[in-house]
Amino acid sequence: MSGTGFSVYACLFFAGCFCCSNAMPTKLNQGAVNNRPVIGVLTQIVVDDVMKPFGRTYIPASYVKYIESGGSRVMPIRLTLTTSEYENIFRQINGLLLIGGAVDLEASDFARVAKIFYTLARKANDAGDYFPIWGTCMGMQLLTVLVAGENLLTNTTAENIALPLNLTPEAATSKMFKDFPNDLMKALTQEPLTGNFHHYGLTVKTFQENQNLESFFSALSTNIAENRVHFVSTIEGRRYPFYGTQWHPEVNRFQWDRKMNFPHSPHAVQLSSLLAEFFSNEGRNSLHQFDSPEEEASSLIYNYTPVYAANFTSYEQIYFF
Ligand SMILES: *[C@@H]1O[C@H](CO)[C@@H](O)[C@H](O)[C@H]1NC(C)=O
Ligand SMILES: *[C@@H]1O[C@H](CO)[C@@H](O)[C@H](O)[C@H]1NC(C)=O
Repeated sequence: MSGTGFSVYACLFFAGCFCCSNAMPTKLNQGAVNNRPVIGVLTQIVVDDVMKPFGRTYIPASYVKYIESGGSRVMPIRLTLTTSEYENIFRQINGLLLIGGAVDLEASDFARVAKIFYTLARKANDAGDYFPIWGTCMGMQLLTVLVAGENLLTNTTAENIALPLNLTPEAATSKMFKDFPNDLMKALTQEPLTGNFHHYGLTVKTFQENQNLESFFSALSTNIAENRVHFVSTIEGRRYPFYGTQWHPEVNRFQWDRKMNFPHSPHAVQLSSLLAEFFSNEGRNSLHQFDSPEEEASSLIYNYTPVYAANFTSYEQIYFF
């Protein structure tokens, strides 16, 4: 099932110049903290017919609330801009969230724009200019395509099921989990705290056999798919601040469709809260900023109004663009 060009229904819910003008980015970031982080969120392409009347692209409000709950603000990033416009946005934002969806991971506009930011982020981090990226579900799958340089995803269906994680030995010392309280770490392995809604993923075997992936990411957890294949469910960059979950931390607090197995227990809520705060703290390490408060204000999600969507999707509210 891998290979180029196949249309990846990955994750279904419904039916150049990053140049810091400052010469020394390494020094720039050391010790300094930005307590007003802005996380960019790429809009997602609408594929579901019921959503088409509202716009071409969207961001479910659950991801926005998730980022906001961690202490960051959201800038929606459209998929129709030029490369130099994305470069300009990159030097203003402090992190990037790649959300779930169901689009081609190589040929879509979503993939094209993600690749631009991924390339800028690698260069920036190499130069000591900290820039975190988080991929959720298809966002994580896309990160694996970008790092591997090819699409290695296969059928690892886990559709509408909440699962505990099989943590690897690396989880205990990971950046994502190392500050979790012991009782939450235990609950993570015993209680179904992670919501899965995907058809494709990266098998443990593929991960271990691919030099690019294995050297770039630590696998922090695995799970077993409906077809009994073991897939990688949580990843963290060894050197780069890039993170991925095949599961959806945002649904635990911000999606409530009764037909969906969204985990809402106290531990599920705590897991979602701590990861949102973790990623905001990652964003605090980035000193990128807007050229003016006015430009910042006009770029943020607060300029848009979400649409009530609980009666035609499994989201409560959606921003359309
Ligand atoms: C993936 O595997 C599941 C479980 O074996 C199967 O039901 C499903 O049809 C497969 N999906 C694809 C796209 O091959
Ligand atoms: C969903 O509810 C809104 C009002 O709350 C209504 O305007 C809209 O027609 C409904 N959509 C569907 C598909 O039922």
